[in-house]
Amino acid sequence: MKVLVIGGGAREHALCRSLSQDPAVSELHCAPGNAGIARLATVHPVDQLDGTAVTALAERLAADLVVVGPEAPLVAGVADPLRAAGIPVFGPSAAAAQLEGSKAFAKDVMAGAGVPTARSYVCTTPEEAAEALDAFGAPYVVKDDGLAAGKGVVVTADRTAALAHAAACDRVVIEEYLDGPEVSLFAITDGTTVLPLQPAQDFKRALDGDAGPNTGGMGAYSPLPWAPPGLVQEVLDTVLQPTVDELRRRGTPFSGLLYAGLALTSRGTRVIEFNARFGDPETQVVLARLRTPLAGVLLAAANDTLADLEPLRWSEEAAVTVVVASEGYPAAPRTGDVIDGLAEAEAADGTAWVLHAGTKADEQGRVVSAGGRVLSVTAIGKDLAQARERAYQGVAEIRLAGSQHRTDIALKAAAQ
Ligand code: AMP
Ligand code: GLY
Repeated sequence: MKVLVIGGGAREHALCRSLSQDPAVSELHCAPGNAGIARLATVHPVDQLDGTAVTALAERLAADLVVVGPEAPLVAGVADPLRAAGIPVFGPSAAAAQLEGSKAFAKDVMAGAGVPTARSYVCTTPEEAAEALDAFGAPYVVKDDGLAAGKGVVVTADRTAALAHAAACDRVVIEEYLDGPEVSLFAITDGTTVLPLQPAQDFKRALDGDAGPNTGGMGAYSPLPWAPPGLVQEVLDTVLQPTVDELRRRGTPFSGLLYAGLALTSRGTRVIEFNARFGDPETQVVLARLRTPLAGVLLAAANDTLADLEPLRWSEEAAVTVVVASEGYPAAPRTGDVIDGLAEAEAADGTAWVLHAGTKADEQGRVVSAGGRVLSVTAIGKDLAQARERAYQGVAEIRLAGSQHRTDIALKAAAQ
């Protein structure tokens, strides 16, 4: 099977790593890729938002499957011309990707499907925003309606800051604050059958102790030893399946990866957000534990044959990933610095490896930083403590001027 992956972050590196280990994959391509992916796949320059260009590339390569990684091309509708050309594609249509592209749309789908989520108002004027903030009280949650790479959400006790964020966005969703730990649960779906993966936890804030601004995610781990047994089944029954059924009923079936960001609140499980693609960095740890070869699973979703698939097999091991970000991330990341220690960061026995996000090769062939989140070190171990130790051993080898990482990824969970 010839597989083409669209994207160039650590999530796509993780996808390419798993696909490259799948004996069914005879050729692996990635566009645009990055310096790390280039070691596993043939990389192609492409404007990933240009559906015509992506389809032309897939046709030229005679790809048997195209996997669209990031939200931007999905929301831009890159999957649509691929499907129209008869190419199996893993990733939702533009219409279904609105589940991530518009928080207001997602709220509407959840209301239609009876999915538990935070009560919310959609606001377009300062007056509406002020009224909504006062209706819920502090802490305030203000979300840009559109895509913002995980940085469009402000959670604050400061009413002035909440109003300022609302004023800076065209349209915002203001919602009630959800307490309790967060869980990311992914499901692979063909629009009818829903196959949940293993839950993971992401660390969204930039700094240790969940301080600092929201980011795309600074680290993750799986499994969650503290999660209630039965969580996956509950979320399948109350969130994932009803959402997939609702989108099919609306005539916009969702095929691809449905990501439920959940809060386990004192009043029950609530959806914080949906995404229409694999999460980053959670994918790094979820795929590290998946034993079933990946390509066949993604192809079954693309071909509407998930119901025929054998149950997924999972490793008993734990996985931890730690993101190394540039100085200044998320506000103003500095780029263009040489990254050293990449080989040393990987364990000789294969228990820790580097996944590239914002990297590229410079003219001298050196790997340099090219984005906010630069790379992540992922490790597996017999438990979270061991996986964590290995991941941080790898991080300690990375030399990148000004780089930052959290030191408390999976710390509490490993101590339990
Ligand atoms: P989102 O982009 O919607 O996932 O929001 C980013 C982060 O903001 C989430 O992972 C939460 O940590 C936080 N957040 C979003 N919505 C809420 C909410 N209603 N209550 C509390 N925290 C929230
Ligand atoms: N890790 C959060 C996200 O992928 O949106």
